Amino acid sequence: MALLSFLKALMAALFTTFSFLKALINKKELYATGQAGDGREKAMLAHVIRTAEKGNPLSVLNVMDAYAKTSGWLMNIGDDKGPILDQALDKYNPRVVIELGTFCGYSAVRIASQLHKEGSKLITFEMSPDNYNIARQIIEHAGLSSKVVSVQGKFNERLDVAKQFLKEMNTTHFDFVFIDHWVHSYMPDYLLLKENEMLGKGTGVIADNMGAFIGPADFRKYVKTHPEELETVEYKSNAEYLWWFPDSITVSTFKPFTRFY
Ligand SMILES: C[S@@+](CC[C@H](N)C(=O)[O-])C[C@H]1O[C@@H](n2cnc3c(N)ncnc32)[C@H](O)[C@@H]1O
Repeated sequence: MALLSFLKALMAALFTTFSFLKALINKKELYATGQAGDGREKAMLAHVIRTAEKGNPLSVLNVMDAYAKTSGWLMNIGDDKGPILDQALDKYNPRVVIELGTFCGYSAVRIASQLHKEGSKLITFEMSPDNYNIARQIIEHAGLSSKVVSVQGKFNERLDVAKQFLKEMNTTHFDFVFIDHWVHSYMPDYLLLKENEMLGKGTGVIADNMGAFIGPADFRKYVKTHPEELETVEYKSNAEYLWWFPDSITVSTFKPFTRFY
């Protein structure tokens, strides 16, 4: 019995690794389109609509996790690093949240289902029109459309939408920022947020894929060398659905103008 379970787990791990490598072989396509190129994201959507309980975010997340492990690896934050994001949401208890990199809506569902403050909302940016469409349907299926504003386009090209959202939310800055798009955009987009005064005292800045192998070298260095601006804790884990691939998440608190206090 134990041997059977072990073999099953081994087969599943081999499958996920193969599926991950298959997505990575098409790296150029992945970076350009945000998709693996074999239709797995669209198939996942159909599977979620068919099998996840409507209006139940947890059921949607569970189905997405199971799909990524058994049918096609997906770049969701996933069920290993997800709890680190949950803990950060619990710590900051935000009202106004921004996400860079929606993909298929997994982390948007995870975040929006944990926004407890009256009138709290998430705005999420996705460059790929296909992913944007999938994510909207996933968020709708989870019953969270009223909590999420989905924007199609690159964050740095849609700054006006972020500014308008802040205005409508009656605030000047985000309480919680989740950075999870392409790693070469982490540093410039963080600086865009900062220079546009969209970060305030105590804003939580959470970055996924910060591991030494795959993480953004410039932003990793920045969070480690600017303690006066970002008070950071790094949580080590593994890349989504790949127990053998080390990765980490950084959770930083923005501390502007500390030198003047
Ligand atoms: C790692 S996935 C996001 C995963 C998602 N946060 C989750 O955990 O479910 C990265 C996504 O960022 C998108 N992306 C890349 N660069 C972007 C940019 N500058 N603005 C908005 N989206 C971007 C890609 O198309 C891709 O879908």
